[in-house]
Amino acid sequence: MTVKNKIKVVIPAAGAGKRLFPHTFTKPKPMVYIAGKPIIGHILDRMIDVEPEEIIMVVGYKKEQIISYVDKNYSGIFNIRYVDQEEQLGLGHSIYVARDEIGDSNIMIALGDMIFKAGYSEFYKQYLTNGECAASIGVREVDDPKKYGIVELEGKYIKRLEEKPARPSSNLGIAGVYFIKETAVLLSIIEEMINKNTRTRGEYQLTDALQEMVNRGYRLKTFQVSSWYDCGHPESLLETNRVLLDEKEDIDHVHQIKDSVIIQPVAIGDNVTIINSVIGPHASIASDSYIESSIISDSVIGSRSHISKVNLQRSIVGDDASVHGKHNSLNIGDSSSIEF
Ligand code: G1P
Repeated sequence: MTVKNKIKVVIPAAGAGKRLFPHTFTKPKPMVYIAGKPIIGHILDRMIDVEPEEIIMVVGYKKEQIISYVDKNYSGIFNIRYVDQEEQLGLGHSIYVARDEIGDSNIMIALGDMIFKAGYSEFYKQYLTNGECAASIGVREVDDPKKYGIVELEGKYIKRLEEKPARPSSNLGIAGVYFIKETAVLLSIIEEMINKNTRTRGEYQLTDALQEMVNRGYRLKTFQVSSWYDCGHPESLLETNRVLLDEKEDIDHVHQIKDSVIIQPVAIGDNVTIINSVIGPHASIASDSYIESSIISDSVIGSRSHISKVNLQRSIVGDDASVHGKHNSLNIGDSSSIEF
């Protein structure tokens, strides 16, 4: 269902994505490929229903790749503006650098770490029904609260927020989607933090700025975020690939295929060649790659890679990579038992 509204969306996408090294050595995290497209593509697809007035993307690290992909694929769908965050000084700072573009509009901040199954219009509806509040923050119970910003509630309202606490007092994790009504207040708090150099772990944290809103008597609420797929940690990237492929409705047709079996679901890009191989289930292979005599499942293979004679499971291979195995040749007598 389409939700009619006027809200600006801010997508902080300037970070180096250190947790996803080595993949982010050569590309920014939003451009890491899973289930048929870069992470940012999955995120923007889920924003179409929100019909935002404008999307403000805060870019920095390897920004040309993001701008070129997003302009090519989404400029006909959204009004998109790019803002530079030259120094990576934290999430709070990334919102502050977009202050001129934000103006006094209500904003939705959407982080690029998570892909939400429901899509953002679902959250927008929850935010609208949250009643009067200065901001509304998507949360979810998490097993490892030390890895997230967490919130503590008192009744319906947020009492306390803390960024990646050493001793978490709650397991309600900040999910990476925020709706801000009192935008001017938030921006002025961040400006004060910058002027006073108030940092946590070296960065101007959005979580700290939201806590300061609470300190000043503004009422902040939460809304529940259901299934999310974490793209910010390498261990969960393959799981995210699997879940997104399971949801995929269209079947990719592979043209250059010879003597091979494709086990759905898979995502196969343009101009991929597959010879004498078994591909899938849950394999994502980006455009222009060449696969020969291999078995690949539960894996993500980048563009222009060359793979032969290997059996890959739970593997992530970047762009322009080569992976070549060799076939074994045996001369084994009766009743032998061999294990490789
Ligand atoms: C950011 C936020 C954190 C939130 C997390 C969700 O942290 O600062 O509060 O829980 O995103 O992904 P980051 O993952 O950028 O370190």
